[in-house]
Order: sequence, then C-alpha cells, then structure tokens
Amino acid sequence: MSFVRSAVILALLSTAASAEIAQPLQALHWVAPGTDAVAVFASEPTECLARPADPAAAQAVEIGRAAFRTPLLLGGQAARVGLTCESCHRGGRGNPDFLFPGASGAPGTADVTLSLFSSHRGNGVHDPKPIPDLSGPRERLKVPSDQLPPFIRGLIVEEFDGREPPPAVLAGLAAYVRALSPTACPAQARAPAGPAALLDDARRALTAAGQAFAAGDRPTAVLMIAAARARLGLLDERYRDLRAEVALLRAADAELASLQQAVREGRPDTPAALTRWTRQSRRLEAALAAQQGRSLFNPTRLRAAANRRLPPKPT
Ligand code: HEC
Repeated sequence: MSFVRSAVILALLSTAASAEIAQPLQALHWVAPGTDAVAVFASEPTECLARPADPAAAQAVEIGRAAFRTPLLLGGQAARVGLTCESCHRGGRGNPDFLFPGASGAPGTADVTLSLFSSHRGNGVHDPKPIPDLSGPRERLKVPSDQLPPFIRGLIVEEFDGREPPPAVLAGLAAYVRALSPTACPAQARAPAGPAALLDDARRALTAAGQAFAAGDRPTAVLMIAAARARLGLLDERYRDLRAEVALLRAADAELASLQQAVREGRPDTPAALTRWTRQSRRLEAALAAQQGRSLFNPTRLRAAANRRLPPKPT
C-alpha cells in the first residue's frame, strides 16, 4: 500500500477514534482527564453580579453579560470549538478545572498569549497563568477599572483573533466585569445546573437584543441573539438522546436564526417577534423541565455518559 493511502486511512481511523471518545459535553474536553464530570458540570458556580439601578448602566451590563457567554465574540480556533469568556471565567469567577490541551499548565491556568488562539500575539513562549476570579476582591485584580475596555479589546482581537466588537459590546463587557463583586455573591457558591437558568440567560440576551435594536445598533442585536443561540446549544448537548426535546430546541434555534436575519434587514416586526420567542420559551422550558431527569442534567446520567466516552487511562 502506498504511503499516501495508508496516511489517509490512518487519518480516517483516528477521526473515527476521536469521534468515539468525544465527550458528551464540549466543556468536558477542557478539563483534566479523569475529572469528575458531576463535580464540575452537574452544578454551576453562581454569579456575583451587582445589577446597577440606572437603566442605561443596567442595559450595558446585560449586553456584556450575554457577550461574555458567546463563542462568536472570539475568533479563530476558540470560536470554532465553542470557547467563550465564560469557559474560563465560569459565572464570572475562575475555573480551577480548566485544562485546554496545549494552552494550560496546571488545571485552572491558561496561556492567553498562545499562538494556538492568536495569529497576532502568540509570543512563542508557553506562559500559562492562573485564571483569575473576576468577582474576587478588587485589590487582587491586575487590570484597573478604567483600563478594562482596551484590555478586553486586546483579549478579543489580539489573543483570540476575534473581529472588532461593536462599541456597545466592548463597553458592555467592561461594565459587566466592573459589576462583578465579592459583595454581590449569593449565599451558595454553586447551584444545580438545569434548563431554567440557561433559558433565563437566553431571555435576558433577547431583551438586550430588543433594546439594541430599538437603539439602531443592529450588530449588537445580532450578537445578543447569537448569545441566546449559544445557550440553546448547551441545552442541546444535555438533551442529545431525547429526540422530541432536541426537535423543540432546534425549532427554537431556527426561529432565532431568522430573527437575526430580521434584525439585519431592520424589519419593523422584529420587536414583536423577539417578544413572541420569549413568551414561547416558557413552554419550551416546561417541556425541558419535565424531561430533566432523563437528560444529562441528571448527575447519574451525566456520569454514565462521561465514563462511557472517556478514553482509556494510560497505564
Ligand atoms: C482560555 C481561558 C480564558 C478565556 C477564554 C478568557 N480569559 Fe480572561 N483571563 C484568563 C487568564 C489566564 C487571565 C490572567 C492573565 C494574566 O494573569 O496575565 C485572564 C485575565 C482576565 C482579566 C484581568 C483580571 C485582572 O487581574 O484584572 C479580565 C478582565 C478578563 N480576563 C476578562 C475576560 C473576558 C472579557 C474574556 C472574553 C472576551 C476572557 N477574559 C476570556 C483566561 C481566559
């Protein structure tokens, strides 16, 4: 057999093999092998967010909050695999379990100047740093509050090869990070993961989309809808074996895709369509909640799925 042909077969075989060991949740690819999926993904760190009373300031925080959870904000490799700001800063905090092959040192660290993520800034040096808790005490954070916009822009455009974010998104991300505070932490550090929180995120993103659309800011509105779609993507993973629920999720996502088109075209019926989606999402939420026990929100099922897919441990 020729060398070329055997190389092709080898490539095909390894693709098949890697498909077999694909994790049930994408984020399980970004933790150390052998990490307990239930400890890390059956619950989520709670968010320490002080929502401002002023409506304009609150709107900026909501835009930033949604953008923080949108893979499309980042570019290149990071966006393709679905990485978001929140993958590293879970709930705006840190992520002690994060381990990205080639980009982390010890778990909980990342090299955000790595060429893997960036064609601009890769410094050729493996330089992983602990992922900071953005809602931790101010004095432990390095970037001064007024330097957040240029710092975050650098992260998106240079470290992660993302496109230039719309001004309202950049301002929103800075406002969101500023609104994270140790004094705003809920009593519990973690809360069980479930469909309600993810759909609530999607609805908040759509509210932000509606306000951006009303302000004539279509690029921001499109990104906000992308944030809602990313939340549906996370639900899709959890219900992957439940056909009826996946069909509902895909239909809801298709509606969001046409809403993005409506925003781009500036269609006047867009606000009504956004409101309609939000209303219908309550029914979707009830349907998902009814089957939650059969989904990968159920810790027993999550553990079984993760074990089934886990590659054999090296001996
Ligand atoms: C791959 C993991 C990763 C992703 C994705 C990521 N960060 Fe970070 N972030 C880090 C690490 C690691 C540091 C610490 C860097 C250092 O110490 O030099 C950091 C630092 C920061 C800081 C500075 C905190 C301080 O000390 O003042 C802010 C703010 C921040 N990130 C916001 C964001 C935002 C906004 C996004 C999305 C656009 C994002 N991060 C995406 C890993 C990540």
